[in-house]
Amino acid sequence: MIQVKDKTFETYITEEALRERVNILARQISEDYGGKTPLFLAILNGAFIFAADLLKQVAIPCEISFVKVASYHQMQSSGTVTELIGLTENIAGRPVIILEDIVDTGITMEQILQAVQAKEPESVKIATLLFKPDALQKNIQLDYVGFQIPSRFVVGYGLDYDGHGRNLPHLYVLKE
Ligand code: IMP
Repeated sequence: MIQVKDKTFETYITEEALRERVNILARQISEDYGGKTPLFLAILNGAFIFAADLLKQVAIPCEISFVKVASYHQMQSSGTVTELIGLTENIAGRPVIILEDIVDTGITMEQILQAVQAKEPESVKIATLLFKPDALQKNIQLDYVGFQIPSRFVVGYGLDYDGHGRNLPHLYVLKE
């Protein structure tokens, strides 16, 4: 049991189990993208540890870029516009793999997908460490999923509670 700010969390998925599963995803990606040079787009801040562990086990030539997502409402029209901040690579015509820490409602991922697709890559696939299927509201295809988890709040291995806990090596779940 650990304390992060005012909340108590208990161990949920150990560092070893996370690493083992991430290694399997890396092997799958290496097989699926044999002969290609994919560009990984890691979504900051949450995906930084997942991206680091995964990339070390990817056995094919690849590149990685770390981007932040900024969403804002347009004054004139309805809907939000999502911008990928820090994306300097030209992704047109390239195979892109988005690395995300968690897909919850899927709203964020849908916006990221639209922003990436607007830059006309050859293909886009999604790798997410965690997926909460019960919370999903959007019709998006997740190509590589580390763990499906129930709709409970988790922290650690890059994920935060109010900015804290990203440094925790294991994944923890909020104690009910
Ligand atoms: P979505 O748009 O609802 O899919 O939310 C995705 C974002 O919400 C993730 O990138 C996380 O930043 C955050 N998030 C969702 N669930 C959790 C959680 O259990 N712990 C920490 N962050 C979460």
